Amino acid sequence: MARPTTVFVCSACGTESAKWHGQCPGCGAWNTLAEEARPDTRKSGPAAGRPAKPVRLAEVKAERHERLSTGIGELDRILGGGVVPGSIVLIGGSPGIGKSTLTSMALGNLQGAGRRTLYVSGEESAAQIRLRAERLPGAALEVPVLSETDLDTVLATLDAERPEVCVVDSVQTLHASALTGAAGSVGQVREVADRITRLAKARGMAVLLVGHVTKEGALAGPRVLEHLVDCVLQFEGERERTYRTLRALKNRFGSTNDVGVFEMRQGGLVEVADASARFVGEATRAPGSAVLAAMEGSRPLLVEVQALVSPSDLVPPRRIANGIDRNRLALVLAVLGRHAGVGVGTADVFVNVAGGVRVDEPGADLAVALAVASAARGVALGGGESPVACFGEVGLTGELRSVGHPDRRLAEAAKFGLDPVIAPRESGASVEAATLRDALRRALGGRSAARAA
Ligand SMILES: Nc1ncnc2c1ncn2[C@@H]1O[C@H](COP(=O)(O)OP(=O)(O)OP(=O)(O)O)[C@@H](O)[C@H]1O
Ligand SMILES: [Mg+2]
Repeated sequence: MARPTTVFVCSACGTESAKWHGQCPGCGAWNTLAEEARPDTRKSGPAAGRPAKPVRLAEVKAERHERLSTGIGELDRILGGGVVPGSIVLIGGSPGIGKSTLTSMALGNLQGAGRRTLYVSGEESAAQIRLRAERLPGAALEVPVLSETDLDTVLATLDAERPEVCVVDSVQTLHASALTGAAGSVGQVREVADRITRLAKARGMAVLLVGHVTKEGALAGPRVLEHLVDCVLQFEGERERTYRTLRALKNRFGSTNDVGVFEMRQGGLVEVADASARFVGEATRAPGSAVLAAMEGSRPLLVEVQALVSPSDLVPPRRIANGIDRNRLALVLAVLGRHAGVGVGTADVFVNVAGGVRVDEPGADLAVALAVASAARGVALGGGESPVACFGEVGLTGELRSVGHPDRRLAEAAKFGLDPVIAPRESGASVEAATLRDALRRALGGRSAARAA
């Protein structure tokens, strides 16, 4: 029997089926089967190909290409020093976060620097793209655009135009006519990304591939997309807020430690070189506010953590965490109650990292704990004279544990005149505490500490 040239593959377990099923026959998951093209392998044996000659690495010719600067310092830094010719960079982010703005600005700058560029959009008409470009700086209006969703047409155009850098916005809107699935389906996304990657590698053109993010925050489409490309950048932040962060989740040509902070303005995305100054400048000295000396990759960043503890009739009460992990908040509340004498009981607890920044590190625990305790007691940290900075992980037995780069965190706090800084022992901070109870006593001062203890 002839093998079909298309099969249906489950994105969850990889089960293959000749027919489409709503439910995967392998793992039972729903709506995970996606169509995939397969070459006819009937005549092939176990090793039917012709053998090739392996080459010793020292004899491999490796041309060094100069990196292309996008003219956006933060983007260049995160890419590891600019765009590598022939590389594929996937830029993911939720709707309206500014993916098209960022990529349009990068192309505009490259075009202005005399590079050949092309902006392919399957999402917007050329007129819409022009309207955006009008408010952007540089040569954004000089960038050639193609508004097209058919993959074959896009590939043929790329091959004919041979841009040095192009943007494909977005991988979910292009459609390969060889497959029947709708644009954006798993099979389509994989096919689109695979064929663009092959053309780009063959022609040495760099591609910035825009991708959508699902509700859960994962890049929409199969995980294989992330393996296919050279870099995966994630653009985060809240659409309603002005600050956005760009971080590398994967980078074949640089580190994944760095984070760029941007602000969305009328004139496009503006790099925020001194993000700490912004966040600390806006920090309040009211009860419920603590400044966290965080590390965003290799870069120290001061952010304000705010908490509100308010009586509630709801059962169970609300535990809302914005910008920090919800489970981490639950842990901190449990340790506060059990080991530091600050029980929030049936009150609602809201914790928010100001500026729409997301902090994903255990070093944020102490700031959350101090902010909640300060809000619960109605007492400002450090007597409300100046914002109190802190960092440290809270352990389950109520101890404070050290976190990475205490020196850089302290240096950043010192740069903005924050004193005292409360941190775990041996961190070199002006106030060192061994336990959360100890830290609370030092931060909240005499009278309320006695109540807290
Ligand atoms: N005139 C303006 N001034 C300031 N900000 C603006 C202006 N016009 C648009 N924006 C911002 O730009 C954002 C849209 O940016 P952009 O189109 O680049 O996002 P996107 O990530 O490509 O979205 P999508 O997923 O819909 O393609 C809006 O959410 C808005 O915050
Ligand atoms: Mg867009």
